[in-house]
Amino acid sequence: MADTLDSAATFSPLRWRGDTLELLDQTLLPTREEWLTCNTVEEVAEAIRRLSVRGAPAIGVAAAYGLVVGLTPVPAEGELADRFAEVAELLLSTRPTAVNLRWAIERGRELFARHREAGAAAARAALLDWAKVVHAEDIETNRRMGEHGAALFEGEQRVLTHCNAGALATAGIGTAIGVISASFARGGVAMVWVDETRPLLQGARLTSWELQRLEIPFKLVTDSSVGALMSRGLVDGVVVGSDRIAANGDIANKIGTYTVAVLAQRHDVPFYVAAPLSTIDRETATGADIPIEERDGEEVTDVFGTRVAPAGTEAFNLAFDVTPAELIAGIVTEEGVLRPPYSESIRQAFARAQP
Ligand code: MRU
Repeated sequence: MADTLDSAATFSPLRWRGDTLELLDQTLLPTREEWLTCNTVEEVAEAIRRLSVRGAPAIGVAAAYGLVVGLTPVPAEGELADRFAEVAELLLSTRPTAVNLRWAIERGRELFARHREAGAAAARAALLDWAKVVHAEDIETNRRMGEHGAALFEGEQRVLTHCNAGALATAGIGTAIGVISASFARGGVAMVWVDETRPLLQGARLTSWELQRLEIPFKLVTDSSVGALMSRGLVDGVVVGSDRIAANGDIANKIGTYTVAVLAQRHDVPFYVAAPLSTIDRETATGADIPIEERDGEEVTDVFGTRVAPAGTEAFNLAFDVTPAELIAGIVTEEGVLRPPYSESIRQAFARAQP
């Protein structure tokens, strides 16, 4: 199964090899391509926290495998339930905004509850089979999003994206980058503007790395260039991913996304979001209810280990922001492109997916 999954995307950030989870360490890209082997759930949790694996769907798939890693070696029968609960809590505590993490852990808990009576080895085996299904489904979901989103752009458009919502952030071809590459293949996109994405530079380091491999023309810009690009008429559309979408269609995504959306509205540029239904959290009513991760201020005061702010400077490091539904022209999902009013189109998409 692992080989099939690896070849389904040109490059993939994670793989199940032997009996361990391997992660492409994204903190080292693009200069080094090194795989981390996670033999313990603590290693999986730490990899998620430090963004060795990142991007909402990829975090969800890594967490599904993380549950299996946490039951390796197989615990004694009497310790099984406590151990599983501990492992699930540890994984859940890693990052608060990406709801795909909670989505995967909740499904894993339901599955575990159904199989625990069969014994520890059988419960672990069932979890592994299920994690492989979660992995394969993400690949398929990405493909379907690409198909639905490909028609959004017509006639060699110049499309802007923020952060990295490509293959490195998922198990498949990506969400926003999946849409861009599907559209590029049919001539709808001519080139991509890539926001560098301060402070951790997912755009500069990761999206550029992916677009080079996909042979899609792109130009890297500073985040603060977006207004100037749009005012010069150089951007025809925007497509980004999301870490969590509220029931009313408000979306959380990498810090800076909201700024791009406001500028897009000002310049009449359509702003799209691409995300699977697993990113839509119907229990969260609006964007104001989405927990926003605050990360270490050192990510702002220092640039990759080099201090740039004076000693003693305090930084406020919000990792995500919320873009209100009213600024979003459409949300590309595996069930089609959802349009406003999102409360209604989201409800219909879930009904189609689980009739
Ligand atoms: O902090 P990160 O790198 O995990 O943030 C990732 C993003 O904001 C992505 O845009 C989002 O997860 C969508 S990934 C398909």
